[in-house]
Amino acid sequence: MPTSAPLVAVIMGSKSDWAVMRLAAEVLANFGVPHECRVLSAHRTPADTADYVSQAESRGSEVVIAAAGGAAHLAGVCAAHTVLPVLGVPMESAALQGLDSLLSTVQMPAGIPVGTLAIGAAGARNAALLAIAILANGRPELREKLKRYRAEQREKILKEKLE
Ligand code: RP5
Repeated sequence: MPTSAPLVAVIMGSKSDWAVMRLAAEVLANFGVPHECRVLSAHRTPADTADYVSQAESRGSEVVIAAAGGAAHLAGVCAAHTVLPVLGVPMESAALQGLDSLLSTVQMPAGIPVGTLAIGAAGARNAALLAIAILANGRPELREKLKRYRAEQREKILKEKLE
């Protein structure tokens, strides 16, 4: 990576989201992608969230990953404050198993897009992989790493033995 700027800004609405969102951070770390992880809430720290996201581009970030659960407005609020691609990860919630999070993340009004991933762990991992795919458009070495990752995944599946 030619820069140590946090190319991906990973934010989540609560520290309680970190158990899942660390999976996104692990994927980014495995690909050698500089990133930073922060707790920022659309509801509990609205001004700080707006400030952070508004400045993300000038800090060198190229993608924002935003995870929240319940009335999950974080990704949408982020998208309202930046033109960087925003990937939303709906967290599984106790009351509605993440259906609330999914709908409040995905149902954005036309004009302010959020790319919404699956609920929970799969969404966290895939948000990181999609962020890497976006970054890979201008970084051939990252694209090669993604191809290697897919090849390794394929090998692993084909080797599966059923008892
Ligand atoms: C959301 O509310 C957070 O993203 C989290 O998923 C959920 C619960 O937060 P805590 O009450 O655990 O802080 O804002």
